[in-house]
Amino acid sequence: MQKQNTITLSEAGRKAIEARAIAFELKKKKQKERAAKQFISKLEQHSGVPLRYRELKLADYILDTKESKIVYSRVKNYIKKFEELKQIGCSLVFCGRPGTGKTHLACSLANELIQTGERVLYTTVYKAISEVKATYSKESEKTEAEVIKAFQEPALLILDEVGVQFGSEVEKMIFYQIINGRYESILPTLIISNLNNKNLSAFIGERTMDRLRECGGAVLAFEWESFRAKNRRIKNRNNSESALKQFVKHNIDPFETP
Ligand SMILES: Nc1ncnc2c1ncn2[C@@H]1O[C@H](COP(=O)(O)OP(=O)(O)OP(=O)(O)O)[C@@H](O)[C@H]1O
Ligand SMILES: [Mg+2]
Repeated sequence: MQKQNTITLSEAGRKAIEARAIAFELKKKKQKERAAKQFISKLEQHSGVPLRYRELKLADYILDTKESKIVYSRVKNYIKKFEELKQIGCSLVFCGRPGTGKTHLACSLANELIQTGERVLYTTVYKAISEVKATYSKESEKTEAEVIKAFQEPALLILDEVGVQFGSEVEKMIFYQIINGRYESILPTLIISNLNNKNLSAFIGERTMDRLRECGGAVLAFEWESFRAKNRRIKNRNNSESALKQFVKHNIDPFETP
């Protein structure tokens, strides 16, 4: 009978191999985490979200009216279901008076989606149109079609300040091309405007509005007092209260003429 050549590992040798395997897995996990972090940071850098709104999360939105709570929960739901909603190109429209937190909530939405690895681009209509118009110059390295196509790359495009007068029919056409390009590629777009629903429809045209509302795209009305105005009022009240405290503390009659 032939003698078999078997190698038996000592307990210490087996443990050493196990430890090496664990260390290797840990290293791989850390590398993956680092790559994911770098990817998210790149998405943040290219999101176009203005500095003022860059750190905002959904939880930073103060809910002090019944209407704002409803809008907030629709946005929260949109984020939660984005994976599904993006497949059908479900868009959103935020409209309402200045200072009601439209840009704030839209950027919070962008920041939250970016954390899940989604590519989001925030820009104003003015900037988007200017980018397209810059291709009309002879020196431009990009064509109009290339720039419009680039607006189809993000999973969500946020176009702010819609409703500030278009300069010309050409500008109106560029805007339509951007929206329509995304619509044709089944990609969602978030439009933000100071105009109300009816005036926004008239301004951007029924065809564009129809595209945004298709597949359940909601128009969310920000109909409450301006946050900026409210802040100013609270600040003024606090200032006068603190001035009054000073008068009392120093026993001064503010109406006494010196
Ligand atoms: N619900 C809120 N909670 C906390 N901060 C808010 C809220 N709403 C607005 N703000 C703050 O108020 C300021 C104005 O908000 P924002 O810029 O989003 O308004 P807007 O609706 O986009 O106005 P405009 O139409 O003039 O662009 C910002 O500093 C924003 O962070
Ligand atoms: Mg705004």
